[in-house]
Amino acid sequence: MTRTYLQKAPRNQRNDRGGRTCGIKTFFEASYQDSNILDAKVKMNSPLVAADHINDGKHHLLLAATGSVATIKIPNIIEALSPHENLSIRILLSESVANFLQGQSAEQPSLAMIDCMQNVDGIYSDADEWRKPWVRGDSILHIELRRWADLMVIAPLSANSLAKIAKGMSDNLLTSVVRAWDTTGLIDLARPGIPLPCGGKKIIVVAPAMNTAMWHHPVTAEHIQRLEKGWGLESGGWFVVLRPMEKELACGDVGSGAMQDWKMIVHTVEHQLHLGG
Ligand SMILES: Cc1cc2nc3c(=O)[nH]c(=O)nc-3n(C[C@H](O)[C@H](O)[C@H](O)COP(=O)(O)O)c2cc1C
Repeated sequence: MTRTYLQKAPRNQRNDRGGRTCGIKTFFEASYQDSNILDAKVKMNSPLVAADHINDGKHHLLLAATGSVATIKIPNIIEALSPHENLSIRILLSESVANFLQGQSAEQPSLAMIDCMQNVDGIYSDADEWRKPWVRGDSILHIELRRWADLMVIAPLSANSLAKIAKGMSDNLLTSVVRAWDTTGLIDLARPGIPLPCGGKKIIVVAPAMNTAMWHHPVTAEHIQRLEKGWGLESGGWFVVLRPMEKELACGDVGSGAMQDWKMIVHTVEHQLHLGG
């Protein structure tokens, strides 16, 4: 991956909308030409230790994305959640996502611009897991992200990552978090004043997005069945699948496979985290 991420602009650098300025403009004032300037300001994350955030009084959303064109809806989701002042968002990206968010168009801001958005407290990708050689006592990022999160949302979820998750693979940071999830509800307990989504168990919401032919491939049905029926909430599990919808896809094919409407994803986050709104 070309660059990984990210350190926050200080909390006191806020504009009159409450958003961080990152030294130039607000996210929606900044044009995509500004993204190179912002990228130059990017620094590295300090190590995440979930225990440091137990009493921050905020709901913790781990918002993940994988390599689909629908990744460009991530800024819409974050912006729609911006009125919730008691929400902290950490972004988790698979390696291919950087190709969709490089500031190449107005709807495809750079990661540095996304880092400036309200409630975003970190952006992580694979390189962050191995920032330095591990020694005893160091935190382990995929475990800390899981401990930190009250809710994980993977939107969009690519066919590739869906397959890996359904088969239990964990060969990157994102799938390692999913593989290390507390499926029992006995390990990660609720924090003071912050109810967990599903009566005490943390859950993962996924919004698959893929080409129509990929969606109709029989192996996709197997993978979805595992998440919905095997590990879904209704079976006492920890997954919610927001199935794709029909429309003309970016490739020109018409049919199902498009990511669920991002407004529905926002609504699901608000509902599961008891945010209201
Ligand atoms: C322009 C472009 C768009 C793509 N869109 C999708 C998509 O919507 N869904 C999908 O499953 N794969 C899509 N792919 C393929 C994935 O990016 C590829 O399978 C990748 O390995 C996924 O890796 P990840 O799951 O680790 O993010 C697309 C690839 C390209 C080049």
